[in-house]
Amino acid sequence: MIAISGVNKIYYLHGVQVAALREVSLSVAEGEFIAVAGPSGSGKSTLMNIIGCLDIPSSGVYCLNGEDVGRLPDNRLAEIRNRHIGFVFQSFNLLPRISARENVELPLLYRGISSKERTRLALKALERVGLADRVRHRPTQLSGGQQQRVAIARALVGEPSVILADEPTGNLDSGSGNEIIALLHQLHRQGKTVVLITHDPDLASQAQRTVKMYDGMIIREEVRVP
Ligand SMILES: Nc1ncnc2c1ncn2[C@@H]1O[C@H](COP(=O)(O)OP(=O)(O)OP(=O)(O)O)[C@@H](O)[C@H]1O
Ligand SMILES: [Mg+2]
Repeated sequence: MIAISGVNKIYYLHGVQVAALREVSLSVAEGEFIAVAGPSGSGKSTLMNIIGCLDIPSSGVYCLNGEDVGRLPDNRLAEIRNRHIGFVFQSFNLLPRISARENVELPLLYRGISSKERTRLALKALERVGLADRVRHRPTQLSGGQQQRVAIARALVGEPSVILADEPTGNLDSGSGNEIIALLHQLHRQGKTVVLITHDPDLASQAQRTVKMYDGMIIREEVRVP
């Protein structure tokens, strides 16, 4: 599903080159749960941005579901993101003035789905994350853990190929954080492909496979024996 090969990402800032990714190769099969771990600045978010088609490699190849997506123009990348990627961020990234249900409907808006069907799918996704009784709440009327559940419902609603979660527990206390991780594992058991980015070794060790990054490179891969 995800096939990254020899990818480099170089940023130029004030005339200085920063190699954020160096010769990174990574394959993720459908239905896998993988964790990407590593210290701050090691390139985890850069890798997530490339996997999620928010950015393209400076060099190297990225194929998503067999399609070379490393050289596409922005409008095509946006289409691929909408169809194939469900994002979950540390800061939730919900729109504050609309309800949980309306937030979850957003990815479907761009697909020409009728409003009745959007609502039906959004309510189903909110039910899946245990928020059937909070669908009319706005983000500010929800706890942090509940807001992150809304974000996960929004990531799920379009049935993407992969859920990409970048430090999804970073803004939560350990109790709600554990619930979010448990929810991601539950979705994985239901067949979803999950890529979890974390600097927390405990969380990383719960994944089927952990990729360790350092200084823009993948320095180690660990497969967990069940
Ligand atoms: N837009 C950018 N312009 C210039 N340099 C950047 C940019 N984005 C990231 N970098 C640099 O690339 C390197 C990798 O950054 P990245 O955000 O991928 O790290 P990270 O592993 O996600 O760290 P953290 O755990 O702190 O989130 C860092 O040295 C960072 O300063
Ligand atoms: Mg990061």
